[in-house]
Amino acid sequence: MASKTETYDELAVQLSSLLAGERDLVANAANFSSLIFHALPDLNWAGFYFAKDGELVLGPFQGRPACVRIRIGQGVCGAGASSCETVIVPNVHEFPGHIACDSASNSEIVVPLMKGSKLIGVLDLDSPKVGRFDAADAAGLEQLVNILLSSVSA
Ligand code: SME
Repeated sequence: MASKTETYDELAVQLSSLLAGERDLVANAANFSSLIFHALPDLNWAGFYFAKDGELVLGPFQGRPACVRIRIGQGVCGAGASSCETVIVPNVHEFPGHIACDSASNSEIVVPLMKGSKLIGVLDLDSPKVGRFDAADAAGLEQLVNILLSSVSA
């Protein structure tokens, strides 16, 4: 079985070719969320929130319908947005202020999308499995997010 690092390296190659030639953020974020939702095991939600007027607004995703607006600092997404650092939550039921969009979610990872020092939004992945995400997921997803950000830069 491929290691997480191998899986993310393979996904990085696939994502680069999937996004090649398109610079629209919504289109590329939509294909990004579909690619990872179908390629990574044990996910029930994968998608984006974009920073707009001081809050996070739902963007392209795969999974059940989700809450549309999240305040910066609120929930796991808001924590990632305010710290501008990846947040891994092994058990969402132990995270103060976690926003339950899908009752199937038990663990979560949020990776901020940064253009220099400016927050563009966050990538959010949910899993039914407690402890699903670790440092290898953080590194792999940060690698994929960088490919997305480079694809839309001027
Ligand atoms: N659980 C997130 C909200 C977004 S959904 O998981 C899609 C949070 O606490 O920020």
